[in-house]
Amino acid sequence: KNIVILISGGGSNMAAIVKAAESERWAARLDARVAAVISNKADAGGLAIARGQGIPTSVVSHKDFASREEFDAALAREVDVHAPTLVVLAGFMRILTPWFVTRYAGRLINIHPSLLPAFPGLNTHRRAIEAGCRVAGVTVHEVTVELDHGPILAQAAVPVLPDDTPDALAARVLAQEHRVYPRAVADWLRRADTN
Ligand code: GRF
Repeated sequence: KNIVILISGGGSNMAAIVKAAESERWAARLDARVAAVISNKADAGGLAIARGQGIPTSVVSHKDFASREEFDAALAREVDVHAPTLVVLAGFMRILTPWFVTRYAGRLINIHPSLLPAFPGLNTHRRAIEAGCRVAGVTVHEVTVELDHGPILAQAAVPVLPDDTPDALAARVLAQEHRVYPRAVADWLRRADTN
């Protein structure tokens, strides 16, 4: 089973999944492997991490396409080279078209740095602090055509501390992302085995 991970930046969530696949021996135990890491940004730091792990990488730059639809079609062509069982969005900062989401329906997941349905969209940590929340966290969910609203697969909560800054909260949430996402991917693969 091939996992394709889409990134736009540092790729720390991708790196955590790659590390778990190695340390938990997903190839032997789940017949699963990270087949490719694809980014829409040529300068995404995560590309160097993936290459360092011997994982094929490619770049499909949204700048090269006149429309969202044309970009998504090119991205899907590249994704399909690896015949993915599961497509993992990890810090992927593009809103995908309904066409793309529908094409991978049921095998497309994302990580969002809030306890959905609270705080869909951007700047989640600043918004949680400004709202006076006492807890914040992360959600792994299936991607549907409605942004940040698909069925929830996993969540983890962290405390919001007095005088927390968005960066401090982001770091606390990110540590949980790196624990929760690999486990959610492994659980998804196990379920895919039995279905
Ligand atoms: C993280 O906050 C993640 O929740 C969001 O993108 C940020 C960076 O992720 N989706 P990564 O380090 O590129 O995996």
